[in-house]
Amino acid sequence: MRTALVAGNWKMNGNSASINALMEGLNAELKSNAVDVLVCPPSIYLSQVKALTADSVIALGAQNVSEQNNGAFTGEVSLEMLLDLSCEYVILGHSERRSLYAESDDLVADKFKATVAAGLKPILCVGETLEEREEGNTLAVVERQIKAVVNAAGIEQFTDAVIAYEPVWAIGTGKTATPEQAQEVHAAIRNMIAECDAELASKMRILYGGSVNAANAAELFANEDVDGGLVGGASLKTNDFIAICQAAGA
Ligand code: PGA
Repeated sequence: MRTALVAGNWKMNGNSASINALMEGLNAELKSNAVDVLVCPPSIYLSQVKALTADSVIALGAQNVSEQNNGAFTGEVSLEMLLDLSCEYVILGHSERRSLYAESDDLVADKFKATVAAGLKPILCVGETLEEREEGNTLAVVERQIKAVVNAAGIEQFTDAVIAYEPVWAIGTGKTATPEQAQEVHAAIRNMIAECDAELASKMRILYGGSVNAANAAELFANEDVDGGLVGGASLKTNDFIAICQAAGA
């Protein structure tokens, strides 16, 4: 049995006051271990959220990290810093990082290896653009993105990793993949991993991301190979995020 994981990706949103209010609301309602809940604040607020998750079931993660250990890398954040702030997970290869900041498959693989070496759990994001889907290349794109990391890191480094399938056309658009579309790709991803290690594939959590909301979460999570969600916009709304976590735990 895989325990579902719901991860909130706050992206570049919020301030000290809104984060206090959001975390107060989440802590009041989310107390069960039926589902793993994770929040990924902007790195400048990790320290604040660390304090707010001290007595809570909610885990802490980062939205990105440097592949370098430390040194002259202006503006970057290291794995050592994330560990220092009790982060457990790091989102890697989000489509916004790939498209807006030119992160290549190779760079994502380097970040993945560094993350595992540091003892943090990577959430590897993959997904196709609308054009790639319309050309019938969805599975080829997802396979390329996953294989780039499997080949560089080795399948054994996926033991604690999570994969998030996020169709780019569904991110922040209000256009969600249908449960059938999600299940098809999730099953294909599990098969790709199973080709390397069947037991690991059966245990690996594969999250769906892309306009998950309180209304569509339950039908997405009802699919056999959908083990929770990576949630952007709705993770900033206290009641919506609680409802999504409850749907995953049901
Ligand atoms: P969204 O974002 O839920 O706002 O579509 C998801 C994500 O980018 O992780």
